[in-house]
Amino acid sequence: MKKTFYITTPIYYPSGRFHIGTAYCTTLVDCIKRYKELRGYDAYMLTGLDEHGQKIQTVAEKNGLTPKEYVDTMAKKAKELWNLMDISYNDFIRTTDERHEKVVKKIVQKFLDNGDIYKGVYEDWYCMPCENYFTETQLIDGKCPDCGREVKKMKEEAYFFNMKKYEGWLKDFYKENPNFIEPESRKNEIFSNFINPGLEDLCISRSSFDWGIRMPNDSKHVLYVWLDALTNYITALGYMSDDDTLFKKYWPADLHVVGKEIIRFHGIYWPIFLHALGLELPKKIYAHSWIVMKDGKMSKSVGNVIYPETLIERYGLDATKYYFLRLMGFDKDSMFTPEDFVERYNSDLANDLGNLLNRTIGMMNKYFDGIIPTKIVSKTEFDDSLFEFAKNQIKKVEENMDSYHVSNALSEIWSLISRTNKYIDETSPWVLVKEDQEKLKSVMYNLAEILRKIAILIKPFIPQTSINILNQLNITEENTWESLADNNIIKENTKVVEKGEPLFIRLDKEEEIEYIKNQMNK
Ligand code: MSP
Repeated sequence: MKKTFYITTPIYYPSGRFHIGTAYCTTLVDCIKRYKELRGYDAYMLTGLDEHGQKIQTVAEKNGLTPKEYVDTMAKKAKELWNLMDISYNDFIRTTDERHEKVVKKIVQKFLDNGDIYKGVYEDWYCMPCENYFTETQLIDGKCPDCGREVKKMKEEAYFFNMKKYEGWLKDFYKENPNFIEPESRKNEIFSNFINPGLEDLCISRSSFDWGIRMPNDSKHVLYVWLDALTNYITALGYMSDDDTLFKKYWPADLHVVGKEIIRFHGIYWPIFLHALGLELPKKIYAHSWIVMKDGKMSKSVGNVIYPETLIERYGLDATKYYFLRLMGFDKDSMFTPEDFVERYNSDLANDLGNLLNRTIGMMNKYFDGIIPTKIVSKTEFDDSLFEFAKNQIKKVEENMDSYHVSNALSEIWSLISRTNKYIDETSPWVLVKEDQEKLKSVMYNLAEILRKIAILIKPFIPQTSINILNQLNITEENTWESLADNNIIKENTKVVEKGEPLFIRLDKEEEIEYIKNQMNK
């Protein structure tokens, strides 16, 4: 049986249109899932929507819809976007799904039975957009520490989850599992801000609005979103339901990918909920940073929001995915600029990768009528080092992907692309054609073989381009990850296409920068 790999995105709030921040996170998860599949795992990807809460209720009212009508349209839009982006998710959970609501009630009942939940009065600083209370000390300049907006002092009767009871356990858990959260800097943040000062109990209900799952013991209260939201990762698998096959198969999750601002919920409350349920914990939480704009956070009111459709429609899906995955460092925010997008498109995609394929196809047709030479009897002095370099790069890509350093993995692939372009210059096939036909054969074979490897390496990141390269080379079999170790796979008489199709058409810099700028907020 294949080893399983269960990976999740956060479930997004459908409070507005999904922008490139959301699309980035989903692309990242999809890329890791595809990589794991290529490495032989039975990988399962979950995404979905977090549909309850006051903010959704308010937005729905503004749109003249009931909350349910509103979230239904948003769920449709989310699925359309993930289809457009060719996201290979296995399930899409909505917190309004009956399968979810039913099980959440059972979970809350279990907590009530175990004495983990009590009724009290909550008073603190509340951020409406984030649906989150903050203590005085957590505020930054008197404003929400997550989004920087105004907070209001609020007080209400509410149910609480007794987090304090589990504080000692949580600390022990982190001692034994120091790498549970990556990057480490994010773990340190939650330790200094929340765990070391002493855990606060978590308010888990509201009586001031009703768009939520009712507390099973008290219908005046609806669940406050985080308990409802976090449990999606297990309700989607059928935990506590009649059919829990998927739960048995895939839980515990191998990786929850979340944004840096919600690491507190995944690094403190989620482990405690699971422990209180007697369940195993996920293996890792990876907190990514944000895509920011020149003028700070993306925001409709600032007018700097970019939507993924804008980039996909004009530049293609793979160029958009490439940019997201390459842009984002492991632990620092990354800035989206139209200049950088166009520059990367032209240099990395059109020049480095596109030209490598084009030059290879062109020369193959010119020198060998398009047939990749296979009977190699003589090598150039550069051949061994090229293959040695490729071998090392493959290893580096694997190491980076196994530790979820996705952007680094991509740059290692691009080093191989540059090295291969350099190999063309070093070996100068246009000279060999006159001087040494046998060596020319070797060079042309090697170029095709390295391009085959590159196509496999880029598969999890930009799958369409991967297929496109293999089709143009007409190397469509034996392209598994394992075959990366083999240098002699290309069959005799393989004929590449007569005229190469450019993978990416070079962009006019000024024009496209202007175009993207004009598309902001549209
Ligand atoms: N509903 C909660 C998550 C519950 S998970 C059990 C939520 N939703 S959200 O829609 O506000 O954010 C979802 C994710 O999108 C977060 O991980 C957040 O970090 C990510 N992003 C939102 N804007 C982003 C950027 N500009 N850049 C990168 N990711 C961003 O929080």
